[in-house]
Amino acid sequence: MCGIVGYVGVQEAAPILVDGLRRLEYRGYDSAGLAVHNGQSVEVVRRSGKLRELEKALQETPLTGAMGIGHTRWATHGKPSEVNAHPHTAGPVTVVHNGIIENHLVLRQELLDQGVELQSETDTELVAHLVEQQLSQGLDLVGAVRAALARVRGAYALAVVSSADPTRIVAAKHSSPMVLGFGQGEMFLGSDIPALLPYTREMTFLEDGDVVVLEATRATLTDLEGGPVERPRQHIDWSPVMAEKAGYKHFMLKEIFEQPRALEDTLRGRLDREAGDIVTAEVGLSDEQARGFSRVTLLACGTSHHAAMVGRYAIEELAGLAAQVELASEYRARSAVVTENELVVVVSQSGETLDTLEATKLAKSKGATVLAIVNVIGSAIPRHSDGAFYTHAGPEIGVASTKCFSTQLANLLMFGIWLGRRRGGLSAARTRELVEGLAHIPSLMTDLLTSMKTSMGEMARRYGGAQDVLFLGRGVQFPIALEGALKLKEISYIHAEGYASGEMKHGPIALIDEQVPVFVLVPRDGNYERSLSNLQEAKARGARVIAVASEGDDAVAGVSDSVVAVPPTDPLLLPLLTVLPLQLFSYYVADFKGTDVDQPRNLAKTVTVE
Ligand code: AGP
Repeated sequence: MCGIVGYVGVQEAAPILVDGLRRLEYRGYDSAGLAVHNGQSVEVVRRSGKLRELEKALQETPLTGAMGIGHTRWATHGKPSEVNAHPHTAGPVTVVHNGIIENHLVLRQELLDQGVELQSETDTELVAHLVEQQLSQGLDLVGAVRAALARVRGAYALAVVSSADPTRIVAAKHSSPMVLGFGQGEMFLGSDIPALLPYTREMTFLEDGDVVVLEATRATLTDLEGGPVERPRQHIDWSPVMAEKAGYKHFMLKEIFEQPRALEDTLRGRLDREAGDIVTAEVGLSDEQARGFSRVTLLACGTSHHAAMVGRYAIEELAGLAAQVELASEYRARSAVVTENELVVVVSQSGETLDTLEATKLAKSKGATVLAIVNVIGSAIPRHSDGAFYTHAGPEIGVASTKCFSTQLANLLMFGIWLGRRRGGLSAARTRELVEGLAHIPSLMTDLLTSMKTSMGEMARRYGGAQDVLFLGRGVQFPIALEGALKLKEISYIHAEGYASGEMKHGPIALIDEQVPVFVLVPRDGNYERSLSNLQEAKARGARVIAVASEGDDAVAGVSDSVVAVPPTDPLLLPLLTVLPLQLFSYYVADFKGTDVDQPRNLAKTVTVE
């Protein structure tokens, strides 16, 4: 997730572009850049780091001109650095891009074979070269962009300028957002509303497949074939703060509802639905290595540790490989043994958590092969690992992790499928089923989140006054119970415990009385009957039971005080759905209590202390 901006009009473009980027910094902040047409040519200034680094550079090298484009980056291909920062240039063409080009490896190889010299590791530079090649065939800029996009698969919101034309920006959209803003004799472009709000409230949201030529006094919309397109103009009356959170009250709520989009980005280019397989070329592990691993150890902290626990179940079930999960801090606190041919999978949103980083170094020093499942590209953990499988959730601002958790689950499940297929434990038919199942998860998430919009608020009002809350789950739902409890603790400050359902009778069941709401995760999976018995045991002791169950389960509804129904999917993929009501419940309880949801007390987003 990156932010792009564009301006063409009568004012100096650079200050407007920088201001727009500042309002889009929540979309990414590892590097930034501007390209402005000075009347003769396009000048580019880029800097690694936050936007203030670009602002400092612009003081030394001011850009003047009334047309330009800008970008704030959240790395997806290529580490954060000046050379990978946007805009990217090829001959007269300069491009900024938000999205992920799926077929970038093939395009890169083709361009290299043609003798093209590439400067960066990004997928975006490839687009600049494709457009430049089409321009040199005699096409105009918009024709060249259309022809280049015919070669591209994936997600993009692109803005392209040419040094031969100081009056036009060509932009195009597929899967990544793009908004046009209409001024008086000036036009604006942005990834999101906040970038444009100080300048205009008249906006048009582009749809997938739209191509627009932006001039100072008009926007001409077409489709990818050049046919005319019309989109409505809307008046937006949001305040700038509301706009940054896309109208949501808190970043956490926005990030919860962003999960279908985040999952799509994570799965993009990694599900080969035609072949019924998983594509993990970027990870850098060979099929031979996959067959040779003797054991997997997963290391993580907090929410990432819960995701790793689900990963363990997936790897054991799909790949038949011994797997264990460790808290990174505890791994460091004992004399952990690394066996021959051991794979260590490190899971971290930030890639900077100190305990996880130190555990990574320790495992590496003891001879393990280390794979990082991380959200922040170029962070410390992947730098100390042998390979990385990035989650592509985009920046997560809320301290309580939500969308990063679900994208971690997706990567761990994909990795488990990939391992299982390579090691021979997983049939082609089951692999195809799981690939299809994953492909459908984003739309199931959307439906489930929509269905809970009002009901979870009511549930939070009904049960949120409790002093203690229990969360029970079995098998792959056990880590989800732990995650539900962690979410509630960290943002609502209510005491909550997650337990393996089967463990209740060994002690914790003594805690149950009429005051204690008990969430029971009891979807139809291989543990259903036993989980239902555990639910009944809690009910029999007076608990107020909230069941997270499969749609249409009358048996569960008959014995529960409240039910959240989740749609059917493969049992191994169910955690991607069952976690959603727990995240929303915590959010609404915290919001009713009036806590600082996005920055809860005593916590930090990235924990770099021991
Ligand atoms: C999650 O809601 C927490 N804020 C926290 O547990 C977090 O998951 C943990 O600190 C690990 O962070 P990481 O994923 O960045 O390594």
